[in-house]
Amino acid sequence: MSNLDLINKTILFVRGKLANAEGGHDWFHIQRVYKNALLIAGEENCDETVVKLGALLHDIADSKFHDGDETVGPKIAREFLESEGVSEDIITYVIQIIDNISFKGGNNEKHFSSLELDIVQDADRLDAIGAIGIARAFNYGGFKNRSMYDPQIAPKLNMTKEEYKSSQAPTINHFYEKLLLLKDKMNTQTGKQIAQKRHDYMQGFLSQFYAEWDGEQ
Ligand code: ADP
Ligand code: NI
Repeated sequence: MSNLDLINKTILFVRGKLANAEGGHDWFHIQRVYKNALLIAGEENCDETVVKLGALLHDIADSKFHDGDETVGPKIAREFLESEGVSEDIITYVIQIIDNISFKGGNNEKHFSSLELDIVQDADRLDAIGAIGIARAFNYGGFKNRSMYDPQIAPKLNMTKEEYKSSQAPTINHFYEKLLLLKDKMNTQTGKQIAQKRHDYMQGFLSQFYAEWDGEQ
């Protein structure tokens, strides 16, 4: 099977699986991450097939929606890739990306590193910041019934994975707990440049938010 066929089949598979996914992790998230990943990959000497498969399959089964089970996504991805006759070394690479892409709360060690993981991770992080990042954060906060902002509740840095998962804090806190920290965690040059632009946009948003909160223009 040609690479193009494999990628097209993967796109169809992922679209089907995510047909009823919630807003932050739906097919459009995957599509944006895929585009970000291609943009970054164009600047790097990497294995593009691995990057594409990693980007497409990285959220195939979010543990949040499987009782915290982090093995479901990699298992589904492996079964799909095996059924398509993809070679074991490519499968291993892609699964390592899915396993390592998200380190919740930022305090967990990365167990594996590769340029392709760096690229997909940057691509995923870019979708958490900027205008889309702001929209996703408030969408998530609404889904979880969180308040937008409460000046009495300070952001909490250095949370453990468990604290991060069970946090009930207002959505604005998430900017300080995660979103504004992402710019300095970017792996690639291209990722860093785009992140800086999106970071500045979020800072502008926050200034305006507080101004309006205080009854200013
Ligand atoms: P990822 O796509 O990297 O796995 P998450 O599943 O942690 O990210 O989050 C999905 C989206 O929801 C992201 O845009 C993220 O910023 C947002 N989000 C996650 N946790 C919170 C939170 N506590 N408050 C607001 N937004 C959140
Ligand atoms: Ni994602």
